[in-house]
Amino acid sequence: MIDHTQIALAFTGASGALYSRRLLEVLLAQNFTVHLMISAAARIVFSDELDWKLPARSSDVHKLLVTEFDCDPDLLHVYGEQQWSAPLASGSHRVGTMIVCPCTMGTLSSIACGSSNNLINRAADVMIKENRQLILVPRETPFSAIHLENMLKLARLGVCILPPNPGFYFKPSQLSDIVDFVVARILDQANIEHQLMPRWGDVDSE
Ligand SMILES: Cc1cc2nc3c(=O)[nH]c(=O)nc-3n(C[C@H](O)[C@H](O)[C@H](O)COP(=O)(O)O)c2cc1C
Repeated sequence: MIDHTQIALAFTGASGALYSRRLLEVLLAQNFTVHLMISAAARIVFSDELDWKLPARSSDVHKLLVTEFDCDPDLLHVYGEQQWSAPLASGSHRVGTMIVCPCTMGTLSSIACGSSNNLINRAADVMIKENRQLILVPRETPFSAIHLENMLKLARLGVCILPPNPGFYFKPSQLSDIVDFVVARILDQANIEHQLMPRWGDVDSE
């Protein structure tokens, strides 16, 4: 029933667009079919952090990203925030894993209370109700008690709460090492093979 070659991916308006771009790049390079949702706030943050000016129409975003990542156009599906006709709006779809990276405190809150007021929230709600895998990469600092309670509530429902907290034990020498550390942890949770970085214990320590 579940098609493990398909992934749902949502970008929301928290800082961390570098993680989003790298994650999408790796998934497409591995020939996953990606069902992509981008919030209005994410477009603003992407324009600030990546100089990516994402067009308003989903079909234009699709065109831009297919060119950027030089991928098979059929691997990428881009949906609008209110596109209720999207397969992800229903539990009948075959996607087993959804990743929200980064995840704002606003989207976290909407998911925690099941508001389903845009496609990202609805798709996440579907993943929870269908007992499928949902991975959230929440970005804020410091966290308030509201944020922490929302995360605890979702963690108790089986949602993976994966803050983008890089470890420094591999001695990163550039920003991309730190980005890859976080993306590697997300891929591990999604059970996706990668060679982004060595695993602890795989490299000889001095
Ligand atoms: C440049 C920029 C950075 C932001 N960073 C964060 C952040 O790290 N975490 C967060 O929860 N909200 C952040 N926000 C605020 C959210 O974008 C805002 O709450 C928005 O309503 C979230 O909508 P969304 O969840 O639909 O993307 C940021 C906004 C901007 C413009």
